[in-house]
Amino acid sequence: MLTNPAIEAMMRRKSIRKYTDQMPSDEVIETVVLAGMQAPFASQSFSVLLSRGKKDTDWGAPLEFVICVDSYKLERIMAKRNWKMISNDLMILMFAFQDATLAAQNMVTAAESLGMGSCFIGSAPYLADKIAQEYNLPPRVFPLVKLVMGYPDENPPVRPRYPLNYVLFEDKYPDFDEETITEAMKVMDDGYLAQDYYKAGEFMLKLTGDREETFDFDTYSWTEHISRKWGQWYPSPDRLLEQFRKRGFEIA
Ligand SMILES: Cc1cc2nc3c(=O)[nH]c(=O)nc-3n(C[C@H](O)[C@H](O)[C@H](O)COP(=O)(O)O)c2cc1C
Repeated sequence: MLTNPAIEAMMRRKSIRKYTDQMPSDEVIETVVLAGMQAPFASQSFSVLLSRGKKDTDWGAPLEFVICVDSYKLERIMAKRNWKMISNDLMILMFAFQDATLAAQNMVTAAESLGMGSCFIGSAPYLADKIAQEYNLPPRVFPLVKLVMGYPDENPPVRPRYPLNYVLFEDKYPDFDEETITEAMKVMDDGYLAQDYYKAGEFMLKLTGDREETFDFDTYSWTEHISRKWGQWYPSPDRLLEQFRKRGFEIA
């Protein structure tokens, strides 16, 4: 693999879950957000909320961003041009998710390059109504993901990824054999086990229903973790749809 400063910053980045008290300067914060804004966009349908020095941030991070999809600002511009948004909300959101996510990841890489660390927190969509009240959000703005940031007070190893042959498919999607799947699982599971990732945090998702626990911290790793997450959480979309509806988006 080739390397250069940009690739190095991407390859050494890892989610940081312990921060020093040092507050990043205004210039650092603005640089990170401006770098985020320079990401490719479909319609710049995102906004970045910031809270500094809150007491209750995840892992004591000095900065807490909430990356929102935002159709409100664009609709205000369209109104000035005597246009109304008629595109369906599923499509609006699909493109806005991409705008917001690309900006957020640019912020992550910019932070890394400036000696900071960060971590996404995925609960924002379920807390959309609460966040909307805190920040006085207008309708058509939806909190997509929280991003905490600051100077790291830990230096964990980079986390494993699937092997390239489980991601990059040239010309044709492969007909996976069992071995390729097993190998991809092994790379992920051995990688996380070697780091004591779940053991160190004593974090194992509880089984609901009638499955019997057969894992301990010497065997519980990423493929079991991710299977328990998406095999157990939120089978109904109702709660999420309700949050979208309250923010003025009609998906169904
Ligand atoms: C959309 C999204 C939501 C996430 N939510 C959380 C979260 O709620 N809590 C957490 O500790 N990490 C969260 N993460 C961070 C991931 O756990 C982390 O990126 C992943 O385990 C890979 O590790 P790495 O970032 O260190 O490479 C989230 C990441 C993304 C992209």
